[in-house]
Amino acid sequence: MNKIVLLIAIAFLSCKSNEKLVEPTGLVTTKAMVVSAREEASQIGIEIMKQGGNAFDAMIATELALAVAHPQAGNIGGGGFMVYRKANGETGSIDYREKAPMAATKDMFLDKDGKVIKGKSTETALASGIPGTIAGIFEVHKKFGSLPMAEILKPVIALAERGVIVTKIQAASLKNNRETFIKRNGVKSLFSQVYKENDTIKYTALAATLKRIAINGKQEFYSGETAQKLVAFLEAKDGNATIEDFNKYQAKWRTPITFKYKKLKITSMAPPSSGGICLNQIMKMIEPYNLAQMGHNSLKAIQVITEAERRAYADRNYYLGDPDFIKIPVQELVSPSYLEKRMKDFSFDKATKSTAIARGEVKGYESDQTTHYSIVDADGNAVSATTTLNDNYGSKIYCDELGFFLNNQMDDFSAKAGVPNLYGLTGSEANSIAPEKRMLSSMTPTIVEKNGKLFMIVGTPGGSTIITSVLQTILNVYEFGMSMQQAVDAPRFHHQWLPDEITVEPKSFSKTLMEDLQNKSYFVNEKDKEIIGQVDAILVLPNGKLEGGADRRGDNKAVGF
Ligand code: GLY
Repeated sequence: MNKIVLLIAIAFLSCKSNEKLVEPTGLVTTKAMVVSAREEASQIGIEIMKQGGNAFDAMIATELALAVAHPQAGNIGGGGFMVYRKANGETGSIDYREKAPMAATKDMFLDKDGKVIKGKSTETALASGIPGTIAGIFEVHKKFGSLPMAEILKPVIALAERGVIVTKIQAASLKNNRETFIKRNGVKSLFSQVYKENDTIKYTALAATLKRIAINGKQEFYSGETAQKLVAFLEAKDGNATIEDFNKYQAKWRTPITFKYKKLKITSMAPPSSGGICLNQIMKMIEPYNLAQMGHNSLKAIQVITEAERRAYADRNYYLGDPDFIKIPVQELVSPSYLEKRMKDFSFDKATKSTAIARGEVKGYESDQTTHYSIVDADGNAVSATTTLNDNYGSKIYCDELGFFLNNQMDDFSAKAGVPNLYGLTGSEANSIAPEKRMLSSMTPTIVEKNGKLFMIVGTPGGSTIITSVLQTILNVYEFGMSMQQAVDAPRFHHQWLPDEITVEPKSFSKTLMEDLQNKSYFVNEKDKEIIGQVDAILVLPNGKLEGGADRRGDNKAVGF
């Protein structure tokens, strides 16, 4: 009898989070907020809402303003995902991920000996999937928009014409990449020029493209002048995209992944992003442990989270891909009995070896270079959107005539089973290349409810580290009692099954902790990543006000009213 009482008490305690009231430390506003990678983009999103637009109008404006102000990841030459929650509680998501051209083949990045040709999936015109961003924003507008598209685009076009001031961070990034820009695009190209902090870059060609889109609509990008010019540009660089590929591209509304974690309801992106399923698996594997009691970034908390991450990423890399092409055993992968079994061999004594776990057995089954923004409008509609060119500036191939970079998203496919991609992710057949297939993503735009009410909007860039950064941000608020801004700024760590190592942000974790982890047989990598993620998030405070979390790691900024 006593044993039963004890078990109930343990279960009750481990289900409790750290729910004390916390003083906000980020920007607090009463009605609406946008948090994004650049102040200019957040400001434009807010302007649109002040003009009477809703969160979806602001989404369109912010997405395109990032294409102007944050060219390393904001884009019209890439794609993304948006998760939303309307004020009435209805949730949904849209997939505007790039897809492989019809001429793509499974072995297109392999040489005659079957080896991956270095750089072919990242640096060439073949690296680009058919962009989805413009299709995505027009779908969103059709379903939820309240202002005319031309009105929404007006401040974005004005920004492109006026130009954007180069920040210190951006100047360093442009300098680091200049040699590659020259190699790919010649010395005359816009980004081949030297830019210093406080210079202004005018995006005249992009403004002209956006003006045509404002007049002609979606078809401008998928069959009109822009499409014709883009296809010719890619063809001249030995790309394989055709006008038919552009004609056929469609953004898709998808049912998001929804699950509970203690008192939270989490809504995140479904495949072709791995974000939602992976987050679901990890959070359910860690739910039985009392993380709040273990403490933020304590040895024990890092062990539990790492081991759940290891197991989820092993599954990710084997089972996940484009749901329109493969059968994904979603229910099995997130079932409580499966996840309980998955953690059975976890011990606080010693690290599990990644080679020892591989994928779990499921019955019956056959970047940092992305950008995220979070939006809440005055009615309580919420948008969480992540968009990307894949690598920084995508393939770094810039179409000067049209004014944008092309993605290198084809690298997110598994070019060859077992060979790691740009992010060290080792994929399988489920994510192999096929014509018109969407490549697997890690983007995790997420919306969290608490007790049935909107609680948090969160997401980040960071390639494979996106999922674990989103996870830690939610836990930092809910389990470790941080404000939104503190949660975003806190040091992060990451494990992705292979390579078998915990990546940590340098100089952020104590030497003793590093030694303790090593003593438990964890390999800790403090060198490879200067930063992990750049989270942009919004928290709804108990009094209904909004607190922004704009990541200190970049030029991120919360703006609101
Ligand atoms: N290209 C990064 C991602 O989609 O996960």
